[in-house]
Amino acid sequence: MSTPSDQSPPQRPDREADDTLHPAHVYANQRDWENYFRAVDRSKPRDTLLLALSKFDEDGTPRHGARHAVDLGAGEGRDTAELLRRSWRVTAIDAHPKSADLIRTRADLPPDAALTIVQAAMEDAEIPECDLLNCSFTLPFCLPGRFESLWHRIALAIRPGGRFAGQLFGDRDTWAPIPDRTHHTVQQARALLGRAGLVPELFREDESDAADAEGHAKHWHVFHIVARKV
Ligand SMILES: C[S@@+](CC[C@H](N)C(=O)[O-])C[C@H]1O[C@@H](n2cnc3c(N)ncnc32)[C@H](O)[C@@H]1O
Repeated sequence: MSTPSDQSPPQRPDREADDTLHPAHVYANQRDWENYFRAVDRSKPRDTLLLALSKFDEDGTPRHGARHAVDLGAGEGRDTAELLRRSWRVTAIDAHPKSADLIRTRADLPPDAALTIVQAAMEDAEIPECDLLNCSFTLPFCLPGRFESLWHRIALAIRPGGRFAGQLFGDRDTWAPIPDRTHHTVQQARALLGRAGLVPELFREDESDAADAEGHAKHWHVFHIVARKV
């Protein structure tokens, strides 16, 4: 899966054409993300992360030493690597066994990276206290019946003055009817932020028709969010 429009231009993965590829939702159902990892290999950090980092820069130097980020659904580590390069301490959580190897073996990590990798499903993962809960394009893959409890744990984990950065998917997205997905109306998405004590610094609703990372056409309905915990 890639993001529509300016997040990451939709394109076919740069690899041999493979007619046996299936739509991303098949991989999501089976929790087989290897094609996705290949497709986004060496992609730049997400814009929501970069905006959150610029907001932290505006806040000034923290009193408690290096800031701590949880990268939930870290994938192949595009956001984790950027955080580490900026001297953040990072806990990268992902359910896929390949994610840890891909992150650890990235060539762009600083030598003194303060990195903890946890292989766990977000539905069950313990989420440590953090200054930034980064969750790029991952929350829609939470099982719907487990989302409320996950959101509660996310809200508890973010320190006052900390931030949430990431995406929720909207109810008009092509993948919304898939039973193991969690999608929200715009009202529900805004209400989630309010309940967590998160004040939006960015809340951008995007709708577009564009291919996913495997090149399959879909309608995207995405909320891009950066929000500060009061
Ligand atoms: C669309 S990818 C996003 C990866 C990365 N954050 C990015 O922006 O490219 C979704 C990620 O969520 C992970 N994932 C999917 N379902 C998950 C679950 N239930 N618990 C934890 N991670 C999950 C996948 O392994 C994958 O790395």
